[in-house]
Amino acid sequence: MKELSAELLALSARADAALAQALPPESLPPVELHRAMRYAVLGGGKRLRPLLVYATGNAFAASLDKLDSSAVAVEVIHAYSLVHDDLPAMDDDALRRGRPTCHVAFGEAMAILAGDALQALAFEVLAGDCALATAPKRHLAMLRTLAGACGSHGMAGGQALDLAAVGHRLTPAELERMHVHKTGALIRASVRLGALAAGCEDGAVLAALEDYGHAIGLAFQIRDDLLDIEGATAQLGKTAGKDATANKPTYPAILGVDASRRQLSELTARAEAAIDVPGLDARLLRELARFVALRES
Ligand code: IPE
Ligand code: IPE
Ligand code: MG
Ligand code: MG
Ligand code: MG
Repeated sequence: MKELSAELLALSARADAALAQALPPESLPPVELHRAMRYAVLGGGKRLRPLLVYATGNAFAASLDKLDSSAVAVEVIHAYSLVHDDLPAMDDDALRRGRPTCHVAFGEAMAILAGDALQALAFEVLAGDCALATAPKRHLAMLRTLAGACGSHGMAGGQALDLAAVGHRLTPAELERMHVHKTGALIRASVRLGALAAGCEDGAVLAALEDYGHAIGLAFQIRDDLLDIEGATAQLGKTAGKDATANKPTYPAILGVDASRRQLSELTARAEAAIDVPGLDARLLRELARFVALRES
């Protein structure tokens, strides 16, 4: 089992606290919607995307308070994407993070609204970070980065490719394209947001980080596909074996388990090589690349 270091665990706790603070309280109306939003975000999850924001910021020695709004924004988008991904019209899953999915707990309509409101909240948090407003060009670039990662050229587009592919045999290139969008886009954005929040304006360094994000984003979904086959429901906190039952196009389904594992280790090596850049303290980013490849849940 791959465990996170104490340093990354502390950053994940920091993300939890920032998320709890950013979400609307359950005491405020509409109470049921706010309960569903908090349920979807809090109480579970590896917090990989906030960790990528913090680890990238750390590579530039940025102070953590500059990174919190980006960390919150990416995780809130991720949580929204999971709520919608689990809906009956999409993957129709009943278990998420070891608990009933949002629509099972709150009903389908409330889960759709919770996803909608979470998406808006992510932009509200990032746009409302006054510290970023002192560099308005960079602040706008951050908002565009997040928007691009969520939309039809990012996660939502990838989810559309995923749904359209059910029952069809994708080529390896089509499969990669789907994963790079549905999961990779938000992971790449998390890295870029960390760099921008830290004040990085060096095009070559941003490009190196983009390569890193691309590689671990793809690796992350390949590991997810392998875990769906090899993991147990209790360990994953979500129903194992769903991809084959639902006839999903996955790496192991199309390339086989061994080739998928090989791709995963090649991508991890590529990610680590990408961030071997002078002036970048990539220690935490390297740890996260290995975590992505070896995680057990
Ligand atoms: C699951 O993401 C969905 C994918 C994009 C593969 P995570 O494995 O990061 O889920 P949590 O946040 O830890 O629950
Ligand atoms: C989900 O991919 C990707 C997004 C939520 C955007 P999966 O459908 O494989 O994720 P799990 O396995 O349900 O977590
Ligand atoms: Mg899905
Ligand atoms: Mg799913
Ligand atoms: Mg999956």
